Amino acid sequence: VVAHFQPKLLAGCKVVMTAGPTFEPIDPVRGITNASSGKMGYALARACARAGAEVVLVSGPVSLPVPPGVRRVAVQSALQMRDAVLAEVPGATVFIGVAAVADYRPAQTAEHKIKKSGDTMQLVLTPNPDILAEVAALPQPPFCVGFAAESRELDAYAAAKRAAKRVPLLVGNLVQDGLGGDDNEVVLYDDNGRYPLGRASKTELAKRIVDHLADLLVDGAK
Ligand code: CTP
Ligand code: CA
Repeated sequence: VVAHFQPKLLAGCKVVMTAGPTFEPIDPVRGITNASSGKMGYALARACARAGAEVVLVSGPVSLPVPPGVRRVAVQSALQMRDAVLAEVPGATVFIGVAAVADYRPAQTAEHKIKKSGDTMQLVLTPNPDILAEVAALPQPPFCVGFAAESRELDAYAAAKRAAKRVPLLVGNLVQDGLGGDDNEVVLYDDNGRYPLGRASKTELAKRIVDHLADLLVDGAK
């Protein structure tokens, strides 16, 4: 019998992550949300756990099982997601923002179900906090990884996002390549350049992202 032992690339690391969409309530029965299956985030959580990390997955509403070895904190709104993340980040080595956080929420949530009328209706929205940017701006931030979902001009938008949020590693993808499906095509952006990971299953891409992340953590520790 030949046993194959994988090196545990993230042994001893606490990884805090977000995944899935957020849901921003309008009234008790309605809300606005983003399109996100959570599959990429959950695949990455599983890959981090398999690499030996302690993984806390702050997740918006998705219908996916919790990966083995992962602790899930279930939330609905961006504000709840931010609170859960800030509670978990102290002591974390890595923060990975995969969630499709709603950029805006209804300025008010109605206590009771809003009744229809024949008139047009306007919804006032207010900006949500940027969870990734907030974590990256902490005095002693964990190593921060962002995702960027774009529908065009991936390189330009991804590079701009990496700079604006001051995250050392950003994973870019075109929404038409990945949304909802089991495969994706992503490009990594870090201080040294651009690394296309090709088209593969989200499980396989998650492993490649963890490999790259672990290399950067080792380089940073040198
Ligand atoms: N993000 C976050 N909190 C938000 C919005 C985004 O933590 N309120 C994180 C996402 O999880 C992702 C990264 O920021 O890791 C980029 O999200 P994206 O929606 O692509 O970028 P935005 O900065 O929101 O810009 P825009 O939607 O205008 O492209
Ligand atoms: Ca956004």
